[in-house]
Amino acid sequence: MVHLSRGVVATCLTLLAHSSAITAKESSTNPIVADGTSFALNGNNVAYRIHVDNTTGDLLGDHFGGSVGAHIPLEVVGDVHGWNGYIGRVRREFPDQGRGDFRTPAIRIRQSQGYTVSEFQYKSYKIIPGKPALPGLPATMGTEEDASTLVISLYDKYSDVGADLSYSIFPKYDAIVRSVNVTNHGEANITIESLASLSVDLPFEDLDMISLRGDWAREAHRERKKVTYGTQGFGSSTGYSSHLHNPFLALTEPSATESHGEVWGFSLVYTGSFSVNVEKGSQGFTRALLGFNPSQLSWNLPPGETLTSPECVSVYSKDGIGGMSRSLHRLYRKHLIKSKFATSDRPTLLNSWEGLYFNYNQSSIYDLAKEAAEVGAKLFVLDDGWFGREYPRLSDDAGLGDWIPNPDRFPDGLGPIVKNITDLKAANSSTNMRFGIWFEPEMVNPNSTLYNEHPDWALHAGPYPRTERRNQLVLNLALPEVQDYIIKSVSDVLRSADISYVKWDNNRGIHEMPSPATDHAYILGMYRVFDELTTQFPDILWEGCASGGGRFDPGVLQYFPQIWTSDNTDAIDRISIQLGTSLAYPPSAMGAHLSEVPNQQTGRTVPVAVRGHVAMMAGSFGLELDPAVMNAEDKAALPGLIALAEKVNPIVLNGDMWRLNLPEDSNWPAVLFIAEDGEEAVLFVFQLAPNVDHSWPRVRLQGLDAQAFYKIDGGVVYSGGTLMNIGLQFPFKGDYGSQVVMLEKQ
Ligand code: DGJ
Repeated sequence: MVHLSRGVVATCLTLLAHSSAITAKESSTNPIVADGTSFALNGNNVAYRIHVDNTTGDLLGDHFGGSVGAHIPLEVVGDVHGWNGYIGRVRREFPDQGRGDFRTPAIRIRQSQGYTVSEFQYKSYKIIPGKPALPGLPATMGTEEDASTLVISLYDKYSDVGADLSYSIFPKYDAIVRSVNVTNHGEANITIESLASLSVDLPFEDLDMISLRGDWAREAHRERKKVTYGTQGFGSSTGYSSHLHNPFLALTEPSATESHGEVWGFSLVYTGSFSVNVEKGSQGFTRALLGFNPSQLSWNLPPGETLTSPECVSVYSKDGIGGMSRSLHRLYRKHLIKSKFATSDRPTLLNSWEGLYFNYNQSSIYDLAKEAAEVGAKLFVLDDGWFGREYPRLSDDAGLGDWIPNPDRFPDGLGPIVKNITDLKAANSSTNMRFGIWFEPEMVNPNSTLYNEHPDWALHAGPYPRTERRNQLVLNLALPEVQDYIIKSVSDVLRSADISYVKWDNNRGIHEMPSPATDHAYILGMYRVFDELTTQFPDILWEGCASGGGRFDPGVLQYFPQIWTSDNTDAIDRISIQLGTSLAYPPSAMGAHLSEVPNQQTGRTVPVAVRGHVAMMAGSFGLELDPAVMNAEDKAALPGLIALAEKVNPIVLNGDMWRLNLPEDSNWPAVLFIAEDGEEAVLFVFQLAPNVDHSWPRVRLQGLDAQAFYKIDGGVVYSGGTLMNIGLQFPFKGDYGSQVVMLEKQ
């Protein structure tokens, strides 16, 4: 159990004397109840409560957790001794800088005179039906049936700066989404030095924090640690959300597990550099801040202008970490991803990268597509290497920026090869093959016509050398002319042939920038490009990629319904990477491919069935190999694996995911997907290492209807209670086994 703070465990008399002013009977059932002094946001199983401090005008947090009644006790602040002022002892919704709160502020403004003190006081509120969009930024979406929004306006009368805190509640998902608008109503420029989208003070001093850390080819490793006194956190200064840390945080009570305990999940809808800061203070509270990375902000705000923060989604689960993930998954599937493919079946694809890399011509590409069709793939993806005229892309040192087909490889452009490939029929189906293509439009190689013509379009800091990574530089997407060039060159290619899929890659971080603010300006420009292209081409299936999962974030998901999860295609590593990614992101959003052995990243050899089974736990299943050079037995297994992947795909795309056993805790990681209507489920169980002369592993299921009966793989029938309380046993032999079991409700 979490420990309630001292002030809350008070006598009845104290509770009455300090209770919230909200009195309406419906205050714990209406999504938003407000009276100008107290504010309540109510979800099916969550309540968020705020009030205005009548002595300071500050906005104070009262509760973020399970549902509560109309009257709630407010924090009791005892005598104020020592250096901490009164505002350093309360739970603040929008902590500003100076004046006695020594914890990290949610906002720091440098005024023209140099001050960094602010005093934001409550001014007014309004309630808006539904969930409004954010100008230029990705955002969750909802009609008035799905969401309601409370906007609380604060004002600093000394600087004439206003801050509007916008809270949207999605009651069905126990999710509260917050963003902040800061407006300069004064007469001089100000600089926003830091701005958190979310700041919340939880009244607990004994919490764990969970984050996702990694690097290239080892993304999304779960990191859990105790929150200790002082500040701790993580973030990205790479210019993007990055492989290193994901813009996601969970705080949990110390005993919380996958299926038990209180968990607060926070997910920042942003693709740029970010900061997550967790602070356990001297007064027994824990503050969480998620927002812009202050080292890459310094945002100049002239009079009359507004800076909008990205939004941060917060979910509360009393059913452990798994409950938190399922709320985020459902919300993101239905209210974040705009694409019409968000939950619709994805075609099995074959991507040319690991099969051919840069070594191909028109005829070997056609042969690969033919092989793909013969084993049953429905979409052929031509990866890197198809473009560049004066500087042909034959390796990674030339061509980026010149989005024109390489005339030596494709003498008549893309039209004929696309026609030949889309004339192929996928095996055992009447479907014609579809064609997809790779781009990396935010980048430029110095060896390119684009760079020769526009060296100033590459991000650089005055005279400092332009650091290259993978022989490339980053274009400055803050410049409208760069955005327009990308939109035009990509759409010209997409209009030139029958293209139904795009993989949008990005293979380096940002090094030199003209100013810290360029990072956010770049991201706004990038979102404009994403928005224009996905609006112009809504029938194209867009996949995000950044050297694998370097930008697996909710901002990208708004525009692209799937993201290449990692360049590491080793099935065993992928179990951890995909389960880690699923902490915050729905499996529907993941791309995963069955690749050749020995694996090209790890050198490991894993049976073809295990490789297939791991990949089909993702929404977009594919192959990344050349079937022509596979061993005969593995190649013969592909049609069956593709058929199984297509059978489970609708459940993986739309269903609830239950992580039954984690690879970090168990030799038998297991995942259950239960269809949205509960009628079907699919269970994946893996063995990581041999376990000689040991009883067969038993997997106990979760999330089923205990009273209902389920047919297992078309045979024996067990009740949900039996499957959850006794479970199923699996025989495994040797390294790297896997089983896939279908369950049908009777
Ligand atoms: C990095 C991606 O993650 C790979 O899948 C592949 O597309 C390469 N880039 C191509 O350069």
